[in-house]
Amino acid sequence: MKLKSYLAAFALITATGSAFATGPALAEEATEKSLYDRLGGYTGVSAVVDEFADRLFHDPKIAQFFAGMGDDTRASFKQKNKNLVCAATGGPCKIISRNADVVHGGLGITGADFNVVAGHLKDVLDEFEVPAKEQDELFAIILSLKPAIVDRPDETKLSKDAPAKR
Ligand code: HEM
Repeated sequence: MKLKSYLAAFALITATGSAFATGPALAEEATEKSLYDRLGGYTGVSAVVDEFADRLFHDPKIAQFFAGMGDDTRASFKQKNKNLVCAATGGPCKIISRNADVVHGGLGITGADFNVVAGHLKDVLDEFEVPAKEQDELFAIILSLKPAIVDRPDETKLSKDAPAKR
């Protein structure tokens, strides 16, 4: 076996944990980049979070939640979100935020609020031309946090496509 094909076989076995893993599906899975890498690594995640957070701060329906936060606190909010997204998508970051239920508990966030926020994320991902597959994977992570974030789940529909009107 030539060195190159040996290394390829070793990489496949290491990634799948099995010496019997063969076939195109597994080979593809083993070589697929992390969501973090497919989002453009730290540069991509950072740019998306910056734009997303700025839209939240300026949306008249959402800005009330961030009232009284100075520039440094807003910068810290962005950094915590960057680390969270980076870590949750397979990147080399450490989560530096508190648990989602602790942070958002008592803010009175409704299902409609959540959907407005998710709608901003969707808009930003579209503008950065993030493909549908990567968007779906990221939203699966974000939507899994909804029960911890929403205090008043007045809407049950989990939707990134149709943000609710308030
Ligand atoms: C969509 C999913 C969401 C994610 C991933 C998320 C993530 C975060 C993170 C990482 C922090 C910083 C936590 C810390 O300081 O330790 C935070 C804080 C905060 N989030 Fe969210 N959040 C989400 C949804 C929302 C929504 C829907 C609202 C309001 C409509 C909201 C309002 C806030 C506010 C006001 C803070 C600051 C709380 C404080 O420092 O006292 N978040 N969020």
